[in-house]
Amino acid sequence: MDMPVYLDNNATTRLAPEALEAMLPWLGDQYGNAGSAHLLGRLAEGAVVNARDQLAHLLGCQAAEVVFNSGGTEGLNHAIRGVFEALPGKRHFVTTAVEHSAVLALAAWLQHQGVAVTVLGVDAEGQLDLAELEAALRPDTGLVSVMAANNETGVRFPLEAVARIVKARGILLHVDGTQAVGKVPLELAALGVDLFNLSGHKFHGPKGTGALFLRRGVRIKPFMVGGGQERGRRGGTENVPGLVGLGVAADRARAALPEMTRLEALRDGLEAALLAGVPGVKLNGAASPRLPNTAMVSFAGVEGEDLLLRLNEHGICASLGSACTTGQKEPSHVLRAMGVERGLAMGSLRFSLSRFTTEAEVERLKELLPKLAVSHRH
Ligand SMILES: Cc1ncc(COP(=O)(O)O)c(C=O)c1O
Repeated sequence: MDMPVYLDNNATTRLAPEALEAMLPWLGDQYGNAGSAHLLGRLAEGAVVNARDQLAHLLGCQAAEVVFNSGGTEGLNHAIRGVFEALPGKRHFVTTAVEHSAVLALAAWLQHQGVAVTVLGVDAEGQLDLAELEAALRPDTGLVSVMAANNETGVRFPLEAVARIVKARGILLHVDGTQAVGKVPLELAALGVDLFNLSGHKFHGPKGTGALFLRRGVRIKPFMVGGGQERGRRGGTENVPGLVGLGVAADRARAALPEMTRLEALRDGLEAALLAGVPGVKLNGAASPRLPNTAMVSFAGVEGEDLLLRLNEHGICASLGSACTTGQKEPSHVLRAMGVERGLAMGSLRFSLSRFTTEAEVERLKELLPKLAVSHRH
């Protein structure tokens, strides 16, 4: 069997070979607990210290501001629940309609706890109205949570402008950075963000690893009360092999950032071929600043699921909206928030590239997809 053409990198990525290699000793002979005082323990502790430095370097923050965890969903839970638990006087949460389903579920959970929630809408290009954000802020707003980049469309929010507005009111700002890390340069120290979560498996690190950036001085409840690991913020024996892999993945991602222009050109070429070859194609969010690797394409008169299955038969892996909603027969909440009509939203596919994507793979898709899309119109 030919290797599949993997264009679903916003769902997950392949482990960087350097990360795998670096992890192996920590799954073998070097099995110490990073909390132990003996030789094997000290070695493990050193590896975790090194991983923290590597990740901080990628994020542009202090190592002491990094709390390791199991991934994006955990970071979101820690950030959003932890802030409201630490600030009982704050009873209002602001977020957006296009956040990952985990954030929307957390907003519903907060509402059950009696916290008022404002969900900001987006325009047809997936952008926020900053005046609406400003008007939504209240004296009892505890946290504003927005994503750095959307997992479905790749649309990026203007974080500097959002931070200026939110910080001018002295309110905490959380950013879901899960899709941005490794795809765009980040300088968290300069950005004015208070909390920022990420997930290792989205940038060629191991699954089950991630981190929450907590600006020095931010008050938050621990996510897991335990043995005092992660400066008391997240108890439990450290996942040393995973964190070693995460650190190396962060180093590789930083070094590979210039490669993103190559990906962007491949993505743009794919979109141009679709526009030229298929009538009624819509490129969602294409007029907004976007991640370089993501194309979210709607095909008029086509069932997205049919097209996805045909592509799969040809060994091409793509996605219908976000991975978490695949299998449900509901159009993407992100496209709906952007005002894409239901039928068109149901005919939408996401292609997400990585630095391992080759020109030949994209050429194969460019040749195949217009034919499949035209022949599957109803
Ligand atoms: C924007 C965004 N936030 C959060 C998550 C959840 O991350 P994880 O799978 O590591 O829990 C994802 C994963 O799809 C995502 O794309």
